[in-house]
Amino acid sequence: MQINLRFFVLSIFVLTSGICIGGEGMWLPQLLKLLNEKEMKSMGMKITAEDIYSINKGSLKDAIVHFGGFCTSEIISPNGLLLTNHHCGYGQIQSHSSVENNLIKHGFWAKSYKEELPNPGLTAIFIDYIDDVTQKALAGVNDKMTPSERQSAIDKNLAEIRKSYELKSYQNLILRPFFDGNQYFAFVTTTYKDVRLVGAPPESIGKFGADTDNWVWPRHTGDFALFRIYAGPNNEPADYSPDNVPYKPKHYLPISLDGVEENDFTMVFGFPGRTQQYLPGSAVKQIVEVLNPAKIKIRETALNIMDKYMRKDEATKIKYASKYASIANAWKKWIGENLGIKQTHALKKKADYEAEFQKRLSPDSPYKSLLEEMNTLYKDIEPYALARDYYGETTRNVELLDFMSTLRRLVNTYENNGADAYQKMLKQSEEGIAEFYKDFDSKIDSEKFGSLLTLYVDNLDERFVPLLLRRSSLGMSASEDFSKIAESMYMQSDFSEEMATRKILAKTPAEAVALIKSDPFYSLAAVWADFYNKEISVPYNNIKKEIDLKQALYTRAQMEVFKEKRFYPDANSTMRVTYGKVNGYKPRDAVYYQPVTYLDGVLEKYVPGDYEFDLPSKLIELHEKKDYGRYADKTGKLPVCFIGSNHTTGGNSGSPAIDAYGNLIGLNFDRVWEGTMSDMNYDPSICRNIMVDARYILFIIDKFAGASNLIDEMKLVHPKSLSQTKSKRGKK
Ligand code: ARG
Ligand code: GLU
Repeated sequence: MQINLRFFVLSIFVLTSGICIGGEGMWLPQLLKLLNEKEMKSMGMKITAEDIYSINKGSLKDAIVHFGGFCTSEIISPNGLLLTNHHCGYGQIQSHSSVENNLIKHGFWAKSYKEELPNPGLTAIFIDYIDDVTQKALAGVNDKMTPSERQSAIDKNLAEIRKSYELKSYQNLILRPFFDGNQYFAFVTTTYKDVRLVGAPPESIGKFGADTDNWVWPRHTGDFALFRIYAGPNNEPADYSPDNVPYKPKHYLPISLDGVEENDFTMVFGFPGRTQQYLPGSAVKQIVEVLNPAKIKIRETALNIMDKYMRKDEATKIKYASKYASIANAWKKWIGENLGIKQTHALKKKADYEAEFQKRLSPDSPYKSLLEEMNTLYKDIEPYALARDYYGETTRNVELLDFMSTLRRLVNTYENNGADAYQKMLKQSEEGIAEFYKDFDSKIDSEKFGSLLTLYVDNLDERFVPLLLRRSSLGMSASEDFSKIAESMYMQSDFSEEMATRKILAKTPAEAVALIKSDPFYSLAAVWADFYNKEISVPYNNIKKEIDLKQALYTRAQMEVFKEKRFYPDANSTMRVTYGKVNGYKPRDAVYYQPVTYLDGVLEKYVPGDYEFDLPSKLIELHEKKDYGRYADKTGKLPVCFIGSNHTTGGNSGSPAIDAYGNLIGLNFDRVWEGTMSDMNYDPSICRNIMVDARYILFIIDKFAGASNLIDEMKLVHPKSLSQTKSKRGKK
């Protein structure tokens, strides 16, 4: 019986890893040749691993650009034209917008280089090459070390590694742990700093469906925007200058007009941010049952308040659009994550996996009690983790609280380093301060503060509430909420108003610092931040260090124990390739989702005047006339979005979807709701990434916007027809 059961569980593993093949995994581009090329070819890929990543010649990787450090983008013309998502460029599009000239609402298309709009602070980062530096990074490190001994040994090694690289002035070295610290890789990067806005569809296309459709399939969003990288002399990076010229890339992606069909090979190349595939079940359970629900509730409260005001007033809507979208995004994702974990019985699967792990260990294995120890540590950390999330979410959602950290830096700088350092810091903070007030509404924010403070105090153990925020200290009754307190604090504080703040900051450093410190809101934030550090952050970090050390062991142990399983490193904002196929899925009993949506579906969702589902009249006309140019598919319909089994996560937004021949076929921008739990537990049955079809992007640029100047600089290709003619010729 024992043996049979064991065989049964074992075969499930082999079986699931069999199904997973091709979907699961975010692979390092320089290791594809060794680990993946054969499989990729068997799935239909026609190019080689060397075509994807090469240090000797231009390869696909030279067209893949880390956009602003938070999204991906790709070069699609010999003149440095950059394609990314509308939602990745949203902050930039918004910053060039006003009520009179609303680029969010009406879109933007530069008709010449001269009209392209600069974006201070925006970067475009290339990966020059990648080295495995594991041996040097882990030299002298052993399992007997305490977390801090291990960390300081590694830090010393990394400093040595850093010294061994000779970098150009515009290059950086990024050193990152992989497999929870069992491997280290070095990335040499080049950063371009002059990145200009070239084109964006109106929001009614680029964000069609907005938050209702976000994370949802079937999807009909044209989530794209165009930028351009500018270079200084010799095509090298330079600060913004009107003299800069369009960057000449080592490689750019041709765009296929042949589109996709179910089961076509696809590959997504980009910078996935963070996943946690190798956690113990106790950690996943904590995320799903304790931390996610708390964060969902806090954000829901803040979102409802913003929404109430945004619906009333156009200017408020513009001010809060970007903030609202980013708060709503993770909120909705966490809800989907919880759904997917439940639906795929992920916790039960983790439990079975751990039972099998335990069973396979030899009696004298050093890993025998590892999982039990981790489970205890997760129990210990839970109250701190919850309090940490409450504090983090409250400060993130209450804008004035968040802004206090800028003032705090100023005060600290003055007190530790004197007036000159303060002046310098003030100069550096200028841009952030202006940005903060530009989009700040103190009425909305004080309402958020009151509601979130109430949640904080009501839901956390009293030991996590600083004395000055307890109802008893404030003379409040046990059931009273904090709205009145919040209102009066915003009334009393100078910082709820830009003019008053500017007045203070214009004074001498000594006077300004004294005034800042005597502000009631500032003092509250300062006391709360100190309290947080001592009572929540420090104990949390002490336990977290222990957990991280055990996780390093557990990940290594899983790799030793499950030899038949293929392991890939968790996402860590480094360059990765994932590949899969165009595939629909079955979200629920009796429901099957097709993998492609069409313009007809956009019109089905159309609600005139709605803030999420309105459409530009030009698009409606083009649809009526079926005026799709060369961008329709074989049946005459215009494809809009498609899904595939590529394993992606946040950060992969703006990543190119690439066909078997190395051409662009789509632009990644989302995942299906039930599949967002792929960050902890990829499941091939429901994990799908969502891409805009390249033909829809071209159609919008060409037929909708009439920006043929942009189409002209791209290279449009027909790989499928070409390969058919070739094979016909071959047969003759
Ligand atoms: N869910 C996508 C991502 O995680 C798109 C977010 C932007 N769109 C939105 N409606 N908020 O980033
Ligand atoms: N929209 C996400 C991003 O901004 C990608 C969606 C996901 O998390 O897969 O990176």
